[in-house]
Amino acid sequence: MKITISQAPEHTGEKVTIGAWLANKRSSGKIAFLQLRDGTGFMQGVVVKNDVSEEVFQLAKNMTQESSMYITGTIAEDKRSPFGYEMQVTDLELIHEASDYPITPKEHGTEFLMDHRHLWLRSKKQHAVMKIRNEIIRATYQFFNDNGYVKIDPPILTGSSAEGTTELFHTQYFDEEAYLSQSGQLYMEAAAMAFGKVFSFGPTFRAEKSKTRRHLIEFWMIEPEMAFFDHEESLEVQEQYVSFVIQAVLENCKLELEALERDTVKLEKMQAPFPRISYDDAVQLLRDKGFTDIEWGVDFGAPHETAIAESYDKPVFITNYPKEIKAFYMKPHPDRSDVVLCADLIAPEGYGEIIGGSQRIDDLELMQERYEQHGLTGPAYEWYLELQKYGSVPHSGFGLGLERTVAWIAGVEHVRETIPFPRLLNRLYP
Ligand code: 4AD
Ligand code: MG
Repeated sequence: MKITISQAPEHTGEKVTIGAWLANKRSSGKIAFLQLRDGTGFMQGVVVKNDVSEEVFQLAKNMTQESSMYITGTIAEDKRSPFGYEMQVTDLELIHEASDYPITPKEHGTEFLMDHRHLWLRSKKQHAVMKIRNEIIRATYQFFNDNGYVKIDPPILTGSSAEGTTELFHTQYFDEEAYLSQSGQLYMEAAAMAFGKVFSFGPTFRAEKSKTRRHLIEFWMIEPEMAFFDHEESLEVQEQYVSFVIQAVLENCKLELEALERDTVKLEKMQAPFPRISYDDAVQLLRDKGFTDIEWGVDFGAPHETAIAESYDKPVFITNYPKEIKAFYMKPHPDRSDVVLCADLIAPEGYGEIIGGSQRIDDLELMQERYEQHGLTGPAYEWYLELQKYGSVPHSGFGLGLERTVAWIAGVEHVRETIPFPRLLNRLYP
C-alpha cells in the first residue's frame, strides 16, 4: 500500500511504500540510515545489509542527496526520533538520481541559500516555517468563519492609495496609471457596509526602500473590517484572533516548532487580553528607558518598538497615536483632536508591529476635510465618500501582516524566510 510519511503512525507493523526524497544519509558496513522526506514529513529508513538483497543495499549505501525513490518496508515505532516512527526497509526503487545537490548539510550563507530558494524550501527548517505559515492561514479562516465573517477579495490593481503615495508600485492600466494594492482596506469598508463583518487575505505591495528584518516588498495581509464596531471592540477581536492562531499552531505544529527549536513556553502565555499603552505613556516609558531625545509627535522606529515590547511578556497595543503620523481615514479621539482611535499591536521578542488598526471616520464632512488636506481627488477616491453618505455607521478594522506573525510564532529572525519566494529590495529571483 502506498502511504505518506504523515500517515505512518496509523500503519505501525504494516508493510507500506512511500514516494520520497533522500534528505541525508549515514551508513556503515552493515547498515544504512536514510533520512527520508516526502513533503508531509521527515522519517528515517533503516536498511540492514542482511535483510535486503545486495542490490538494494548498494543502492541505499550509494544513494545521493535529493535522489527520489519508492521505498518499501515495515513501519516501526522509534522512540529516539521526534517523529516517533521509522521504516525497516525491505525494498528500494530509484526514480531519479540527483547529482551534486548544491545545498549540502554543511553551513551555507544566506545569500547563497536565497539564490537557491526553489531548493532551500525542501530543507527541514524551511519546511517547518511554511507548515506553520499554512497553519496560521488555516486557523485564520477558521476563526473568522466561526465568528460570522464573510471572506471578501479586494482588487490588486487599483487607482487609489490607502496608505500614502510614497510607497506605491506604479503600473500601466491601458491608458491609465494604476497601482498595485498597498492595502484592501477602503474596499473592505465598502464590503463591511454590505456584509457586516468581513475579512480579506491577499498579497499587498509596498515600494519601500527598507532593508530590515521586518520588511518585504510583497507581503500578505489579513484585513478584517466590522460595521458597528468601535475601536475597543476591534481590539478585543484582535487579541482573540491572535491568541486563537497561536493556540492552533501550538496544537497542530508540534514537530515543526521542535524542528525550529522554538521556546513554546513563551508562546503558551500569549492569551488574551493583551496589555494596552497609550502613545503618550509610551513616549514617557521610552524617555524613562533612556531614549531622552524622543519627542511627542514622532513615529516610533524599530528600536523604540522593541524597547516598549520588552516591558511586557505578551504583545502590547500602543493606542491613540498623533493624527499627523497616521492615515487619513482614522477617526479622531472624541476628547482629543490631536490623536486618533488607532492601535498598533507590537509582538514580543523584537518582532515589531504585526497589526495596524483603527476606528474609521464615519462623518462625511470630516472625510471631505481630510480629502482636501491630503489632495485626494478624482473617481478613484470619490466612490469611498459615498460610504459616508448612505447610512454611515461606526466601523473599525485592522490589518495583520502574515509574514511578521509567522516570524514571531516560528521564532525566525528575518521575514524573508517566512514567505515561499520573498520579494526584497534586491531580490526578484527565484
Ligand atoms: O500598518 P499597515 O500599513 O496598515 C494598513 O495597511 C491598514 N490599511 C490595515 C487596515 O487597517 N486594514 O500594515 C498592516 C500590517 C503591519 O502591521 C505589518 O504587520 C504589515 O502589515 N506590514 C508589512 N509586513 C512586511 N513587510 C512590509 N513592508 C510591511 N508593511 C506592513
Ligand atoms: Mg502600521
